[in-house]
Amino acid sequence: MTGSVQAALRHAFMAAEAVFNRAFGDRLNPLYHLGAITFFLFWVVAASGLYLYAFFRTGVPEAYSSVEALTHGQWWVGGILRSVHRYASDAMVLLMGVHMLRHYAYDRLRGFRSFSWLTGVALIWLVYISGINGYMLPWDRLAQFTIVTSFQLMDSLPGLGGTLVRNFLYPESVNDRFFSLLAFIHIGVPLLVLLLMFVHVQRVPKAATNPPRPIALGVSVMLLLLSILLPVHSQGGVADLATEVGALALDWFYLPLLPLIDDWAPSAVWGLLLGGTLLLCALPWVGRRGTQRPHQVALHPGSKQLAVRPGETLLEAGLRAGLALPYDCRNGGCGVCLCHVMAGRIDHGAYQPSALTAAMRANGKALMCCAVPLDDLVVEVDVASLEPGAAPAVSRHVGRI
Ligand code: HEM
Ligand code: FES
Repeated sequence: MTGSVQAALRHAFMAAEAVFNRAFGDRLNPLYHLGAITFFLFWVVAASGLYLYAFFRTGVPEAYSSVEALTHGQWWVGGILRSVHRYASDAMVLLMGVHMLRHYAYDRLRGFRSFSWLTGVALIWLVYISGINGYMLPWDRLAQFTIVTSFQLMDSLPGLGGTLVRNFLYPESVNDRFFSLLAFIHIGVPLLVLLLMFVHVQRVPKAATNPPRPIALGVSVMLLLLSILLPVHSQGGVADLATEVGALALDWFYLPLLPLIDDWAPSAVWGLLLGGTLLLCALPWVGRRGTQRPHQVALHPGSKQLAVRPGETLLEAGLRAGLALPYDCRNGGCGVCLCHVMAGRIDHGAYQPSALTAAMRANGKALMCCAVPLDDLVVEVDVASLEPGAAPAVSRHVGRI
């Protein structure tokens, strides 16, 4: 079952990647840089957030009025940055989701990768906590709805028993200290996100955390254009706990659960959240299992031996061992990491036919960024790349020693 879901997703990704390769070239294919673009979006959110924070006032009437002054009084900076902050946060959720789906589709979540996968699941929680907390700060009607519904949900936890939401039944019970706490959380949790993002990539040899410049530029221009054309505004005026909120336009990236919290029993919402989290955590151990033992790879010419972990590609093992192997896209799109398998069986993985033709494959060629050993192997690679510090003959990008 999971195998066929993965196969269907992989098929869809391969097709989309082929289209993007034609449109942007394999070097600038955004689908090959999803994790790095998510990193970049985090920096955009952090930088725009710092500006907003400088003008945000943590008081009951001031929170709303300071955000309004930013949005309208200095729309050309504050207004645009408020929108950039919102859209970059939304894009972060979107890209994080596609990045996760892609790793699942290509079955890159098992064995040593389960570390990245599980820290990724924790990142989903932290990113969501930061985003939902952000919606509470402008103290408009959407903030009111967000605060009341999310505190209702937390109140259903054992030990709290309705103590939290009581603070939001009457206008007098919301005070300046509460806003200071919200603002403090809005700085503290993103710092935890940043820390976990760096932990998340520790097991990925030579992980790229910066997208190529043209992609970063393209993303920034898109965010700016969107912010100018569709500026973000507060909704429904200042929050008023004495009256019901009217109709609201929800952010479907961060707030899709809010209507559920309103309509469902809290235990059902917790069931969905915890069940979904457990399911995600279990995925690396569900379904297809590849080779279970490490394999030895003899690199030819020369006498270098490489230990490849179960499920690890030849390129990952080589980079981990400090070899300056040639690579570029790391996703089977460019053909830069070509090698010759002289003995032993490999799983070629998923790659674009333009990077490895059927004839090349029949001649024993393979892409190191996709090929996973099924036996102990003898592999011929570019001679120069076996020399520490040497630049390989065919390379747009070389792992450093
Ligand atoms: C703030 C959110 C996230 C950021 C910034 C991020 C960033 C990255 C980066 C830069 C890499 C290394 C290069 C790459 O494979 O793209 C990576 C690897 C990985 N990520 Fe994420 N990621 C995030 C969330 C997630 C989530 C939610 C999951 C899944 C639950 C996930 C699963 C993985 C896996 C399995 C790898 C290892 C890939 C491998 O070894 O081939 N990530 N991530
Ligand atoms: S690095 Fe591009 S195909 Fe392997």
